[in-house]
Amino acid sequence: MCGIVGYIGSRVAQPLLIEGLKRLEYRGYDSAGVAVLEGDHLRIARAVGRVAEVEEKLDQLGGFAGTLGIAHTRWATHGGVTEANCHPHRDDKSGIALVHNGIIENYAALRTYLEEKGHVFSSETDTEVLAMLIGELYEGDLEKAVKAALREVTGAYAIAVLCEHDPNTLVVARKGSPLMVGVGSGEYVVASDASAIIAHTSQAFPLDDYNVVRITREGFRTSTINDVPVSPKMMQLEMDLEQIELGGFSHFMQKEIYEQPKVLRTTLRGRLDHNEGRVILGGLASFAKELIKARRFILTAQGTALHAAMIGEYLLEDLAKISAEVEYGSEFRYRNPIIEENTVVVAVSQSGETADTLCALREAKDRGAMALGVVNVVGSSIARETDAGVYLRVGPEVGVASTKAFTGQVTVLTMLALYMARRRFMSPEVCARCLRQLDEIPAKVEQTLESDYRVRKVTERYVERDNWLFLGRGYNYPTALEGALKLKEISYIHAEGMPAAEMKHGPIALIDDGMPVVFIANKGRQYDKVMSNIAEVRSRGGHVIAVATEGDNDIKSVAEEVLYIPECEEYLSPILAVVPLQLMAYHAAVLRGHDVDKPRNLAKSVTVE
Ligand code: G6P
Repeated sequence: MCGIVGYIGSRVAQPLLIEGLKRLEYRGYDSAGVAVLEGDHLRIARAVGRVAEVEEKLDQLGGFAGTLGIAHTRWATHGGVTEANCHPHRDDKSGIALVHNGIIENYAALRTYLEEKGHVFSSETDTEVLAMLIGELYEGDLEKAVKAALREVTGAYAIAVLCEHDPNTLVVARKGSPLMVGVGSGEYVVASDASAIIAHTSQAFPLDDYNVVRITREGFRTSTINDVPVSPKMMQLEMDLEQIELGGFSHFMQKEIYEQPKVLRTTLRGRLDHNEGRVILGGLASFAKELIKARRFILTAQGTALHAAMIGEYLLEDLAKISAEVEYGSEFRYRNPIIEENTVVVAVSQSGETADTLCALREAKDRGAMALGVVNVVGSSIARETDAGVYLRVGPEVGVASTKAFTGQVTVLTMLALYMARRRFMSPEVCARCLRQLDEIPAKVEQTLESDYRVRKVTERYVERDNWLFLGRGYNYPTALEGALKLKEISYIHAEGMPAAEMKHGPIALIDDGMPVVFIANKGRQYDKVMSNIAEVRSRGGHVIAVATEGDNDIKSVAEEVLYIPECEEYLSPILAVVPLQLMAYHAAVLRGHDVDKPRNLAKSVTVE
């Protein structure tokens, strides 16, 4: 959801800014722009489209030579996708340029106020309002003007600001949207996330809400918008460049699907104690005593993470025999939720920055819940605002369509359920057996990936179809939802996911001759019921693509296409069953000629409500 980058140092800023934008392009990619200070002269290039379009503009302009600059890649909120609405935005009085990620909620009132003062706006954005406000309040001290402006603002922001009259200062600030400062030697790179920093330095610190950092080539100072000094929490970035490069794959989504066996091994590493038959989750250690009292879990998330959370609900109830429910963060927050004593709220999120999930978490905490995070990005907002948590350790996920984060989330939630089960009633022997089964999963994902060619062939046969259904029961009902979401997100095919049994209560009316219906029909408690649902589809002309358990030959007589997954315990089956669905969506998008890693209208990290 918009990516911002800033640089101050002794190197020419433009190539660093462009490279940073390309790393952040997954956050938004409908337009982009760069502003650089050449001496005291502000130069700006902006373009609708990808970062490459801005690069072209910069070439036409002969490039910018300055060593202080800011840049932005946009996912439009206020105002359409036009050059006038592209960032950086400028004020009309004080030589201010600003890039912004987030939404200024009181922009309309501020705009009226500024117009009354004679300012003339050239865009429809909330961001230009903030640039004008800073310009209006500027009296020779950029940091002071930024703070004064931010005290007037409601909403969310991560901003980077520079000023023509102060060629040695970059001011950045945050509330609600992520921002990090990378500290090199005599230079600083600020960015929405570590991927735009790591090529230059591994020393960085994230900003907390209401923090402002004034950066010069000689050093930096952090304080709140009310001028209270803050000590930044410096951290060592663990990402390496290889993790955010394609490395021979055609797309990040493909790379990330294929990375799953390796990253899931990392997710599990050191956490399964086979000898003692227990799960060791270091991130929960300080919270173990509280957790044992837990009577109810509420899992909250959005998108793919919500589907993982739904599987978590089944796992907690089935394995740990503890009451659990799932709720969209966006709904939870506004429906006056009842939080009884000993309720644990688990926020599940790849980015750790999703505003809907974060707001739900805050609401739950305010109402007295214990807060856990199941998050991928280390040091992200959710990770910092939870009482305890478990990191996914699946490495940076760049493809907008989430894949390895999903299997990582389900793996962590499985460990959480076993952790709770063992503390509540499960014997070490039973737990040890589960751990062995879980430990085999990465190798089974590897085996599942071997069917990629076959998945592609099956996808080719149906890719022209515009309506698909995805059906599953029990643990694989959420998998069906995830399969449908993947297809929608990147191939723009209309797909519905639902419990297989629900189909006959209405959606069955959709089934016509040749409609692709994907069933997750692995061996398990509900296998026979799923077979009946398949028969219902077949008798109405639907074409069944079944994800089935290796060795199940019966299914071949009822399904047109069968994609096999290795045999496994039912509670682990979503981690395998989702893999052919991820591949199917990937191939459908490629076959339809779409930009797999940057699907239209989407953004990977949605930091507005
Ligand atoms: C966005 C993305 C989805 C993602 C969801 C939750 O909507 O497009 O792919 O699943 O956010 O993201 P999170 O980072 O919280 O897992």
